[in-house]
Amino acid sequence: MTFKFFQIKKILFLFFFFLSSFSFSDDYKFNNIPNDLMINLGKEVYFSKSSDSCAKCHGDITKESLEGKEIEQSADLQNPYTWVAFKALGGENKKNKNPENFNQQFDSVIIELIINGAYDWNREFYKKATKEYDFNWSRVDGKEQYDSQMKGIKISIVKNILKKIDRILRKEGVKVNRKELENIAAVSVYEFVKNHFK
Ligand code: HEC
Repeated sequence: MTFKFFQIKKILFLFFFFLSSFSFSDDYKFNNIPNDLMINLGKEVYFSKSSDSCAKCHGDITKESLEGKEIEQSADLQNPYTWVAFKALGGENKKNKNPENFNQQFDSVIIELIINGAYDWNREFYKKATKEYDFNWSRVDGKEQYDSQMKGIKISIVKNILKKIDRILRKEGVKVNRKELENIAAVSVYEFVKNHFK
């Protein structure tokens, strides 16, 4: 009996250990927001009327030609395989070894970049990415940090857009904490971008 009990405990422990080692920061999970709604919110963020909207630098992602792309060296948002994070995390090789783990790490690097922008990412998140995800600039030719032209939500997003997200969510009957709005803006714009991968 006791033996069985310990076995079960061990299995449970391993199970939760397994789950937690793959789990994505809860700050970026919004299970209460349906995916379609998330993508619609992301579209609002992407095309927001700010002089530093994603669309300004990266172009209109809904068009093959990425119409209106103003900054040549800004990443091609339709093709994640060309992104710096993909290479720095170990690329195809690493992804094939453990796709789920790789995708979680990749998503977390990108969401933190989208929230904070390159300047803060380089200063604060680079260390964590190196230590926890084996992110390494040496895998990316001629690069040592993110280009600080890449502005994050915190810098470029006008308050209006957060208000708009809040309004849409209320209309849809989804309750969220106001403090979560920035994270929702970032996760949703990333969902919108993902929805336009080639
Ligand atoms: C002022 C211009 C500018 C704005 C605004 C901007 N970006 Fe960027 N973005 C860049 C540049 C430049 C890069 C390339 C960074 C690098 O390679 O170091 C980039 C890179 C990226 C990457 C690729 C990261 C990688 O690992 O290669 C993603 C994803 C991204 N941006 C998403 C967004 C989203 C979403 C928004 C809107 C919230 C946004 N960007 C707003 C200029 C911008």
